[in-house]
Amino acid sequence: MNDSIDKQFKILTYGCQMNVHDSEILAGMLGQLGYRESLNEDDADIILINTCSIRDKAEQKVFGKVGALKKLKAKKPELIIGICGCMIQQQQVAKRIQKDFPHVDLLFGTHNIHQLPQMIEKVLAKKERVLEIWNEEGEVIEGLPKLREDGITAWITITYGCNNFCTYCIVPHVRGRERSRQPSDIISEIEDIVAKGYKEVTLLGQNVNSYGKDFDNEYDFADLLCEVSKIKELKRVRYMTPHPRDFTDKLIDVIASHDKICNHFHLPVQSGSSRVLKSMNRGYDQQKYLSLIDKIKNKVNDFSITTDIIVGFPGETEKDFLETIKVVEAVKYDSAFTFAYSPRQGTPASKMEVQVPQQEKSQRLQRLIETQNNISKQINDSYVGQVWDVLVEGTSKNDPSYISGRTKTAKIVNFAGDKTLIGKEVKVKITDSQTWSLTGKILEEE
Ligand code: 5AD
Ligand code: SF4
Repeated sequence: MNDSIDKQFKILTYGCQMNVHDSEILAGMLGQLGYRESLNEDDADIILINTCSIRDKAEQKVFGKVGALKKLKAKKPELIIGICGCMIQQQQVAKRIQKDFPHVDLLFGTHNIHQLPQMIEKVLAKKERVLEIWNEEGEVIEGLPKLREDGITAWITITYGCNNFCTYCIVPHVRGRERSRQPSDIISEIEDIVAKGYKEVTLLGQNVNSYGKDFDNEYDFADLLCEVSKIKELKRVRYMTPHPRDFTDKLIDVIASHDKICNHFHLPVQSGSSRVLKSMNRGYDQQKYLSLIDKIKNKVNDFSITTDIIVGFPGETEKDFLETIKVVEAVKYDSAFTFAYSPRQGTPASKMEVQVPQQEKSQRLQRLIETQNNISKQINDSYVGQVWDVLVEGTSKNDPSYISGRTKTAKIVNFAGDKTLIGKEVKVKITDSQTWSLTGKILEEE
């Protein structure tokens, strides 16, 4: 496509790591078409908005952004504006965008990403709006180009979609049924990026530890972790997100016995109340969840535990909420992503009768955040004086004169050091702590 030479693209990504990774694929495909990444929207010839529909707030942000791009399109009619991702998979949202935003040229769903080159060609050739939304997932597509964000840590998708149907969640409706990639495809992708100098991978999926349930053999997530951690030059293996229900003893043993697999357990509890958990269709109750945490604490050294929590799920009473606080205090999470329940059209919870008033949700959220922040700070304080291996990932976000990396427990550590250390594992003595990060002093290089 000669007419795309020296043209620029900008991708705006909302939502989870899955979207961040999809955007890397979109960028890779645009790169192959001859587009290069633009630093700002004004210079771009194509702007793609990769959307998230997990909560109403995420959708409102996108509507605001799309509206704001109208001016730019009026100034520059040849600009291509495309919207993709989870919002487009919802019929009513796609319809609204079509109707309210005539300046959008291209709409495509989560299952159509691989068709981007053909879609752009169509827009350019016909000068008309292109719409591609498959309602169902196709086969897993291998070999798409990717333009990854940095050179140290990489996202590797291992499963697509989700079969869980938690009653509050839109994901299974917009990302389709769970499909696992073949181990050989995953391993060769990782070997490839390690050869390019990457040091750490995060295996990605909506429910990573149900990996392989769709295979007709016994190969499972624990087997995959073992295999990945054998890749020689790879220093660290992370994974996101596991489901507490599918966290087997075999998996805990594998994590405990493989040094490269990071001892960071992100185990979304969602609620501490067994009654609410049942209504959420989570597949565990408070006691089962707490016994999983105990098992981890007994088998693994130097670990961290983080979580996701929703407050104000339909029917949640003050008593239920206090059960959540009780679990937070019992587990002592290193940190938690906390959310007020947001009704999603088409999900069972949105139709449940007793919805919690907004004010109550906000109040509970505030109380939860306060409780958790105190615990996070206490745990971070306990790191002060300790020495940790930190994989240096780049310059510090807060202070560019510092470098920054993470411990195996996923704590961010900022410290003074030379930028040539990026990509190396260094020993750092922790000297100070904040709620969200640590400060340290470098002791020695690897
Ligand atoms: N409302 C609020 N939070 C939600 N999450 C998923 N769906 C909703 C919803 N409808 C949260 C869950 C999940 C995280 C990614 O987002 O805690 O783990
Ligand atoms: Fe949503 Fe539950 Fe699947 Fe996570 S496991 S993506 S919360 S349905």
